[in-house]
Amino acid sequence: MSATPRSVARALTSTFRPRRVTTTRSTVGKRGVVRTRAASSLTLTRPDDWHLHVRDASKLGDVVPFTSATFKRALIMPNLTPPVRTAEEAGKYRDLIAAAAPASDGFEPHMTLYLTDNTTVEQVEAAHASGFVRGYKLYPAGATTNSEYGVTDVAKAQKAIEKIAELGMVLQVHGEVTHANVDVFDREAKFIKEVLIPLLDRAPELRVVMEHITTRDAAEFVAAAPENIAATVTPQHMLFNRNALFKGGIRPHFYCLPILKREEHREAVLAAASSGNKKFFLGTDSAPHPKGAKEAACGCAGIFSAHAALPFYAMAFESVGALDKLEGFASHNGADFYRLPRNTETVTLEKKAWKVPDEYKFGDSVVVPFYAGEEVPWTVAA
Ligand code: DOR
Ligand code: ZN
Repeated sequence: MSATPRSVARALTSTFRPRRVTTTRSTVGKRGVVRTRAASSLTLTRPDDWHLHVRDASKLGDVVPFTSATFKRALIMPNLTPPVRTAEEAGKYRDLIAAAAPASDGFEPHMTLYLTDNTTVEQVEAAHASGFVRGYKLYPAGATTNSEYGVTDVAKAQKAIEKIAELGMVLQVHGEVTHANVDVFDREAKFIKEVLIPLLDRAPELRVVMEHITTRDAAEFVAAAPENIAATVTPQHMLFNRNALFKGGIRPHFYCLPILKREEHREAVLAAASSGNKKFFLGTDSAPHPKGAKEAACGCAGIFSAHAALPFYAMAFESVGALDKLEGFASHNGADFYRLPRNTETVTLEKKAWKVPDEYKFGDSVVVPFYAGEEVPWTVAA
């Protein structure tokens, strides 16, 4: 597997000026270009992960500690079987997740509920009253893993969506249409035109996070939209284009949804995330599946990235000389959008390479992590 995209390799020869660089030095880059003022460590406000899958009770103990070691808060996705649909269910799930993190991490799970055709206004009110449910996740039915309970037509969820808007909660959107006649690479762009814009016409105050954006279309739409519209960005959609799926054969561990797109989209998404625009923030979409469920005739979508999430973002931002924008993206913009206080602790990234293991324990199986067997140049200091 070639885990080093050209853009990252390019970064090895680029000059960048990160904020709060604690040491500076000159080195000779891979192509013999002298690199000056290279960051050897970077300290930032402790970040939050605004899009995370940790799965059910039998597995979450194996993945939550990876996230809690670095991130103060995470927004936990509700696509379990059956899905997390009420505040009561979310409360129980939240307790399990909190208990799986070492107490010294002070980790806070925040929750989003699974929106269905049958979500009631009363359920939305109870979710709001809970104090820990930040919003509802809109999965178009059939769009992705465990989305069969999802919304078949947003008109059916209109009343619930109006209540979400009225209460100032957030609708987290998996932005892909699902019609079989739409090419899988066009599903996000179509969703914006056919679903999201009409939805916002009906509910202009609705606060929306377009989750895991993958296209120039989404990056431009969010940048041009009013302040109530934001987006999360995953590491994989900034580090790889769709060629990664087919390099030398089919690569199931690069398969996620929305699927990786062509290079011009990767570049546009990375440019938006690293621009300093407050509408873009960190959401890994770390989505572990047992190895056998990925390496299969019909493999599951999802990339597990929690083991090195912040280092992956540092690689992406470094590749475009934007390490100085990492703190806003990772630690400020999401908290501000969710109207929560910014974290007060800090974490430090060190330029210290390490090799990602081939697999990690995951319930009674194993999960193959992003960059398995490859080197990652950044480490989060203990
Ligand atoms: O790749 C993905 N995996 N995309 C999603 O939307 C869901 C996620 C999962 O739950 O596995
Ligand atoms: Zn997800």
